[in-house]
Amino acid sequence: MTDDERIVSPEPEDQNEDSIEKSLRPQTLAQYIGQAPIKHELSVYIQAAKQREESLDHVLLYGPPGLGKTTLAMVIANEMGVQIRTTSGPAIEKPGDLVALLNELQPGDILFIDEIHRLPKIVEEMLYSAMEDFFIDIVVGQGPTAHPVHFPLPPFTLIGATTRAGLLSSPLRDRFGIVEHMAYYETADLQEIVTRSADIFNTTIATEGAHEVALRSRGTPRIANRLLKRIRDFAEVSPDHSTIDLAIVDHALKLLRVDSAGLDSTDIKLLETMIDYYNGGPVGLNTLAANVGEETETVAAMYEPYLLQRGYLKRTARGRVVTAAGYAHLGRELPPTANS
Ligand code: ADE
Repeated sequence: MTDDERIVSPEPEDQNEDSIEKSLRPQTLAQYIGQAPIKHELSVYIQAAKQREESLDHVLLYGPPGLGKTTLAMVIANEMGVQIRTTSGPAIEKPGDLVALLNELQPGDILFIDEIHRLPKIVEEMLYSAMEDFFIDIVVGQGPTAHPVHFPLPPFTLIGATTRAGLLSSPLRDRFGIVEHMAYYETADLQEIVTRSADIFNTTIATEGAHEVALRSRGTPRIANRLLKRIRDFAEVSPDHSTIDLAIVDHALKLLRVDSAGLDSTDIKLLETMIDYYNGGPVGLNTLAANVGEETETVAAMYEPYLLQRGYLKRTARGRVVTAAGYAHLGRELPPTANS
């Protein structure tokens, strides 16, 4: 299975999902649900920058996919009352692409670069002076006519987003004055997001229904909103459900094979394989992947992180091990010889 075929994938499904996300996007910090410590800090920095009539310091947002980093960047632009241009690391292939983007900025504007860890090195190096002193030096012409041109820039704010802060070089990381780690959402926050989204979709969801969707969304608003969209389809075709209640959420998520903790059938198969064939581990990732018919990379990138985060799996020097919580989730008895 590829990641975009999974209902619980944190990556966007397609363009259509992108546009749905846009319609759900909060406009202000007050509308933005969850991430309370980040909102609080940002509101102070935004207010201070506005009072000083300066551009906001550069912001780095890092954390797992689907948590609303792009949304937050747009909210910051709105709160600052400036324009935002959005792009991504891989889209800026050469220095000229960056120059073109920077050239269009008005004083105070925001340049948002998603997946900033994927910027080509040569572009990243140009960003250093742009971020620090608002200029870039570019070489114009070729051969004997080549000469450097000093290109001053308006003060601007760079907002970088990455799922992998560890992959950022330290010169780049050090140039962000504001660094925020986005964590998985609390259930109560996801519940509020689901309720708000249902309202925007012109449907209503019962409190218990929204709570259940929240529990099964892997702490990720993108997944919560995607599940809600599918569940709404089930509700709309059933004659006796004008409101999405717990029963319909349960029914839909059963059919979609998303369990009580948000695990899908492959997650479960991984844990069961470890228990049934390896006494709960330790087992190497390659062996495990081969057993469930997936690529090692796929297991490492798509399945393992959430199982680790839930505490169902742990990594040891000798391989992966199912934890006591993992056994309990599957309703399995912890064997006396288990290595967890
Ligand atoms: N939709 C997706 N993420 C959201 C958030 N954090 N707040 C409000 N609505 C959202």
